[in-house]
Amino acid sequence: MKKVAVLFVCLGNICRSPVAAGVFKHLVKERGLEQSFLIDSCGTGNWHSGETAHSETRRVATKRGVSLASHRARQAKQEDFSRFQLIVAMDRTNLRDLKQMARNSSARLVTLREYDPEDTDPDVPDPFYGGEDGFETVHDIIHRCCEKLLDSLVEELEP
Ligand code: 4NP
Repeated sequence: MKKVAVLFVCLGNICRSPVAAGVFKHLVKERGLEQSFLIDSCGTGNWHSGETAHSETRRVATKRGVSLASHRARQAKQEDFSRFQLIVAMDRTNLRDLKQMARNSSARLVTLREYDPEDTDPDVPDPFYGGEDGFETVHDIIHRCCEKLLDSLVEELEP
């Protein structure tokens, strides 16, 4: 299987995209495919650069066996569009902002919920301004979408 570089992107890089990268890494490891993927996350904004993931995001992820301890937020940069073949936005606003940055990039830009097996809502909701159960719901949405995303990439990449 060829190696594929996948970048997950949200607004602040402290809630949704760190979970998506952490869950996707976890699933890749479970399937013994670590050698086939390079996985990272970033935000379109820079307000939280250098910070850890949001405490509730980390708490829910830890409960589900996904550690986000080493995550530090960073903003999307131009070289991401040549380094990563697949860029996965958490919502349509992130996708629009990424498309404006992408210009001549050959990276494939998608939204995570294109891979949702259960729902047709196009956006992963932002839990940052919501209540505590929002973080659980968002983790569940991200988990089921990441499973489908990985299935579909494995299918595409296998010779
Ligand atoms: P995220 O959530 O995009 O899922 O990391 C947010 C975190 C912080 C802010 C917005 C969204 N903020 O405006 O500071």
